Amino acid sequence: MSELNNIALEILGNGKGILAADESTATMTKRLESVNVQSNAENRLRFRETLFSSGGMSECIGGVILYDETIKQTTSKKIKIPELISSMGSHPGIKVDTGAKVLAGSPNEKITEGLDGLRERLKEYYKLGAKFTKWRGVYTISKNHPSELSIQSNAHALARYAALVQECNMVPIVEPEVLMDGDHSAKDCLNKTSEVIKKCFDELILHKVELKGVILKPNMILAGTKSTNKISSEKVAKLTLECLKSSVPSEVPGIAFLSGGQSEIESTENLNLINQLNKTNFIMSYSYGRALQQSALKFWSKNIEDVEGTQKVFNHRAKMNTLAAQGKWSKEIEN
Ligand code: 13P
Repeated sequence: MSELNNIALEILGNGKGILAADESTATMTKRLESVNVQSNAENRLRFRETLFSSGGMSECIGGVILYDETIKQTTSKKIKIPELISSMGSHPGIKVDTGAKVLAGSPNEKITEGLDGLRERLKEYYKLGAKFTKWRGVYTISKNHPSELSIQSNAHALARYAALVQECNMVPIVEPEVLMDGDHSAKDCLNKTSEVIKKCFDELILHKVELKGVILKPNMILAGTKSTNKISSEKVAKLTLECLKSSVPSEVPGIAFLSGGQSEIESTENLNLINQLNKTNFIMSYSYGRALQQSALKFWSKNIEDVEGTQKVFNHRAKMNTLAAQGKWSKEIEN
């Protein structure tokens, strides 16, 4: 088990964070089309290879979450993608769930699928070089949601997933994402997120998952996107810490937040304040998708040949978040 604990610490130690580049083909197609780039396997690889070979990787990125297509791809220089990531001093990881589907019995909610055949798929990914994995459960907040059914069934799936991943000697990222969508208050987000995370750990413990070899990937505590009562970054940090202190067992080595639709600056600023106020022993870092890639994607879409220019944009964002993961970021150093 100390081996899994070491991997978790290598991924998140010293201000390092995770690049979540595991968008499914459908999601990546949306992202590419939003900047007028055609989505095909070659373009998806081209953008991702540009990020994975950038200088910021060795200093800032401890792990990269890949999608099934990408972990099997080879770069323009004929290097296997997991090998490229390892050569940059980072760990390759893989998304192993097969997506969130309508939850029978509660048609407005989702249950994440992918447990059937998972043990075999994990062995294949391990052979391809994966050192850690991701599974995302998704929850919405409204008057009656998340329902007990959604909280319970997603926690059960996350725990069965995590147990299988550790059996295969990889670190499971457990991601229960309470979405920002809606007009709920930050207080509602705090209560619901705490309930969801507690239930996840109850199930992880029941399924004999070693908590020292787990990374939690939660949302920050925010008011809903349609709420008229937005809260300050300082309040976000305080409520997020309150939530995690009361719901995460102390054995868990690290927490890596998702960005969930926050802007790049917002997610950096909030992470920075969380670290400035953090009095727990948990490492608090990032596992960002959009908040690490948005500006780089925009730049790249207009300058596809300009690898260095794209990497410069990405390196900056990675550096800002790595500073934030140590509570050392400030607005002034953004420019
Ligand atoms: P975002 O940071 O864009 O929310 O993506 C993180 C992720 O991996 C969601 O599953």
